[in-house]
Amino acid sequence: MSFTADRLLLFGATGDLAQRMLLPSLFALDADGLLAPDLKIIGTARSAMSDSEYRNFARAALEKYLPPERRGRMAEFMNRLAYQTLDATTLEGYDALATKVGHPARGLAIFLSTAPSLFGPTIKGLQSAGLTGETVRMCLEKPLGTDLASSREINDAVAGAFPESRIFRIDHYLGKETVQNLLALRFANLMFEPLWNAAHIDHVQITVAETVGLEGRVAFYDDAGAIRDMVQNHMLQLLALVAMEPPAHFDATAVRDEKVKVLRALRKVASGETVTGQYRAGAIGGSAVPGYDEELGKPSGTETFVAIKAHVDNWRWKGVPFYLRTGKRLPKRVTEIVIQFRPVPHSIFAGKGATMQPNRLVIGIQPEENITLSLMTKVPGLDREGIRLRSVPLNIAMPDAFSGAVRRIAYERLLLDLVEGDQTLFVRRDEVEAQWEWVDAIRGQWAADGLTPKTYTSGSWGPSAAIALAERDGVTWHE
Ligand code: BG6
Repeated sequence: MSFTADRLLLFGATGDLAQRMLLPSLFALDADGLLAPDLKIIGTARSAMSDSEYRNFARAALEKYLPPERRGRMAEFMNRLAYQTLDATTLEGYDALATKVGHPARGLAIFLSTAPSLFGPTIKGLQSAGLTGETVRMCLEKPLGTDLASSREINDAVAGAFPESRIFRIDHYLGKETVQNLLALRFANLMFEPLWNAAHIDHVQITVAETVGLEGRVAFYDDAGAIRDMVQNHMLQLLALVAMEPPAHFDATAVRDEKVKVLRALRKVASGETVTGQYRAGAIGGSAVPGYDEELGKPSGTETFVAIKAHVDNWRWKGVPFYLRTGKRLPKRVTEIVIQFRPVPHSIFAGKGATMQPNRLVIGIQPEENITLSLMTKVPGLDREGIRLRSVPLNIAMPDAFSGAVRRIAYERLLLDLVEGDQTLFVRRDEVEAQWEWVDAIRGQWAADGLTPKTYTSGSWGPSAAIALAERDGVTWHE
């Protein structure tokens, strides 16, 4: 049922995500007149707070996390906010919560940004208070489980109260502008799609490098590790968007149908096709940083880096490796996708001494949003000693191409889509489960092989074995 919600209920309203992302995003949408005037936002969490105390809390978060130029007038936004204290684990408080939500004129969107262990009890509580009807949609933040079995439990619990058409699973990478632009690049241009296959592409690289370490998320991260924190969700979504067949329409069913086919075609990764690492003390940008075990306060077997050679076993991608790597405390923050094309079939310049490099398309997702296509060109000159060719970049920097446009953070887009009911950029159950299935098999392999993370110095590109993983195929990671 299509409706624009006029109530948004935020579970985990005092948490880190709410402070850093959700409240600032909602404020930014409001400031630009993108929220319906009657939209009320009700926060709920365990801490005891009145409405006005929550407004002060929200104001402090906005002052801390919004850049000064985006702050503007806050009074109107504050008027949208209300708060209800709730212990999500017992049924008792849910009637009071329902009273606070009141009777939406059009519908209610619920955002669960709490520990997954609270998802089940929360759904029961919402059911008991009549907050799961046809005009209620449910949005879930990761982590959605720690493996396929626990993810199924969560999905079953939610499915007991909401049909899939009203469940919105967040993967915030899908809200990033450049990630969506990948679809425009592939499907709004003629020249890439005919080449986008094993006949013309040698390999694909996907890097999500971070400079941050644990960031205080000690308990969560040590139980997750890089493969569950980053690969299971964000990186596999990027891979699916790169590898999927053209959907017939840009809508939730068509796009997700194509992504899930790719996720299901992922080959089980063999021993020796993954490398894990854990950072030690080092320096990033000239500043000394401690090792993972020091930040954690104890030794740990959790990986903070993972590199994987993946394969999509279908007609289009037969024999094309997808090299994935992600890690914390790497030398720079960068998310990028590299499409390495094959060499031209025959060089007419070889007899003139020229060497050539195959074309490469680099899609920069963050921090720089740009698309660079390397092209071979002739070095100017009279060529008496042979023709010289050089690879030069054809560069589209998004901020330059769209200088007037507001750059929005992922959650602005996703919250607006949630309120308005567009599921295209949310992850469907079958996708999440296919992702877990693949990741579980890798983790099972690690356990069977007794694989433990190799150490790497903070500020380096991970263990040297990750470099070797690509180099033994004659591939160099793009840096
Ligand atoms: C989150 C992970 O999902 O994504 C974090 O839990 C990670 O560990 C973050 O730092 C990265 O997001 P972004 O948008 O900064 O690339």
